[in-house]
Amino acid sequence: MTTQEHETGRRAVKAVIPAAGLATRFLPATKAVPKELLPVVDRPVLQYIVEEAAAAGITDVLLVTGRGKTSMVDHFDRRPDVEARLEEKGDKERLAAVRRTSELADIYTCRQGEPLGLGHAVGVAASHVGDNAFAVLLGDEFVEQDRPLLPAMLDLQARTGGIVLAFIEVAPEETSRYGIASVKESEFGEDIVEVTGLVEKPSPAEAPSNLAVVGRYVLPAKIFEAINNTKPGSGGEIQLTDAMAQLLTEGTPVHGIVYRGHRYDTGMPLGYLQTVVEIAAKRPDFGAEFRQWLGEFVAGGAKG
Ligand code: G1P
Repeated sequence: MTTQEHETGRRAVKAVIPAAGLATRFLPATKAVPKELLPVVDRPVLQYIVEEAAAAGITDVLLVTGRGKTSMVDHFDRRPDVEARLEEKGDKERLAAVRRTSELADIYTCRQGEPLGLGHAVGVAASHVGDNAFAVLLGDEFVEQDRPLLPAMLDLQARTGGIVLAFIEVAPEETSRYGIASVKESEFGEDIVEVTGLVEKPSPAEAPSNLAVVGRYVLPAKIFEAINNTKPGSGGEIQLTDAMAQLLTEGTPVHGIVYRGHRYDTGMPLGYLQTVVEIAAKRPDFGAEFRQWLGEFVAGGAKG
């Protein structure tokens, strides 16, 4: 099958953010606060992700949530009481920052009643998404603001009509944490590969390469039918990787962009801490002061 036989032309404008997980790795911090709302300096992780989507031209964001996680939706709502207070105080900067969260995109929400896997979480978005291609952004990772991934992914998907993924190169011992792809050269240039196979969380011995799927996908709407036909896989969960592999077998073009920028992974405490430090160190307002303190702390007082 050629790419011409797949619906091409329109750039996706909707994004789905699966964020129903229990975040057991962060307990007890995440007993009452969703991990997506843990702060990275002065914004929650989820805001970086919605900002990334909005900057790429996404106008409609569906948050797939679970019990006890409604505060994620509140974060993107207006707060007239807080805004009035800031206005009274004349604090224009914070007022703009508070308002901005409600202006990034149209935010919608739906529930994933049971945690049955990433594929299942994406599947509950079917009626909201409808017939057009859409993006999926995982709720605990984001990329450098000035080296975005999504715009090129959305453009490529509009050309191929298929699936567009993003890859990073990982060390061989890390393959069992990711979806891993086998690939060949593509007609689209050096950093864009054509995917020939996908496997979820293979052992290093079984991994077909060291190219790992990161949490950004642009998918055609026919993924929903494939998800419906997907049986539980790795970890007993309905895997998005397996549904994508099914479409690949049926002839859907699948490409991946190899990302050379920095990916922030806040899904585990160590990665979260590294993210906070890196973002703080880059802040134009107090980054220089923070870096100086950090250097002194590490050189002198950072003993246990
Ligand atoms: C999910 C996907 C996996 C992907 C990873 C990226 O796994 O199933 O294919 O490589 O996200 O972060 P999870 O981290 O949810 O176990």
